[in-house]
Amino acid sequence: MSDLDNFHNYFNLSGKVALVTGGSRGLGLHAATAFLRAGAKTVFITARKQKGVDEAVAALNKLPGIQGRAIGIAGNVADTDDIQRLVNKVKEQEPKLDILIANAGATWGGPFEPTPDWATQKVLDLNVRGVFNLARLFTPLLEKAGTADSPARIIVVSSVAGSHVPHVGEHGTIMYSASKAAAHHLARNLAVELGPRNITTNSVSPGFFPSKLANGLIEILGGEEELKQANPRRRLGVADDLGAIILFMVGPGSNYMNGVDIPLDGGARLVQGTLSKL
Ligand SMILES: NC(=O)c1ccc[n+]([C@@H]2O[C@H](COP(=O)([O-])OP(=O)(O)OC[C@H]3O[C@@H](n4cnc5c(N)ncnc54)[C@H](OP(=O)(O)O)[C@@H]3O)[C@@H](O)[C@H]2O)c1
Repeated sequence: MSDLDNFHNYFNLSGKVALVTGGSRGLGLHAATAFLRAGAKTVFITARKQKGVDEAVAALNKLPGIQGRAIGIAGNVADTDDIQRLVNKVKEQEPKLDILIANAGATWGGPFEPTPDWATQKVLDLNVRGVFNLARLFTPLLEKAGTADSPARIIVVSSVAGSHVPHVGEHGTIMYSASKAAAHHLARNLAVELGPRNITTNSVSPGFFPSKLANGLIEILGGEEELKQANPRRRLGVADDLGAIILFMVGPGSNYMNGVDIPLDGGARLVQGTLSKL
């Protein structure tokens, strides 16, 4: 006989407060939706454009059967002052934060030598420096939420591009790839730094999920059909794939997981030769 004492709560987010950066669309909106449907009390979403935030909040608050609510705060999480403003706004409404999802990310693609410096700066500022500052400035609120039995969570939405070299040449994404490798390693460092303060940090690394960020590259690579055929699962990622993984990563069932990166790409990273036609 095995006692799985917490079996019924592995994915239960009742009473939890979460913040999802880049929550107005794409993977961030999938995460916010999953959290509310799993019983979260408050899900803050942030993105730069007020309109996108307002529309997403309206849609989230109409989800059937939810107990909690979504709250939108527009802001730029590549900007340290704006992150501090976000912390202050969250604090006005909630005394603690259980879950921080550092999801907002930027990419840039193009040939190597003409790469404009602003593009490199934009990618690194959001995908690396911004994630570090989010974790740093939200730590006091996360620490208030975490306990030895139920740690607060930081999840970095990274990319399989951080573990291999996906695209060089005409449409190269070298600094995006490097930024995501840095994001994985940042998550590992935070796991060790913050673990003793009852905050765990892990990363999830998606492969292709159709989205505003990914669609341009998907087209350049030959379109969805071609990428599906190159994937061992013969499909791209869908909302439920991200929702289920991220729910596991923030739920009570993963209390002991710390410093782990989970690739979420159907196995496509293992067959890169089929994507090397650029
Ligand atoms: N989709 C994929 O295939 C894929 C694969 C691997 C990894 N990822 C990663 O997944 C994450 C989400 O990507 P996605 O595909 O969901 O992209 P998306 O659909 O383009 O959504 C990006 C979100 O981030 C927000 N955002 C962008 N810059 C921001 C900033 N400086 N401050 C605050 N919010 C900002 C956007 O809203 P505003 O424009 O209003 O700011 C939007 O809500 C990224 O980190 C990306 O690298 C995606």
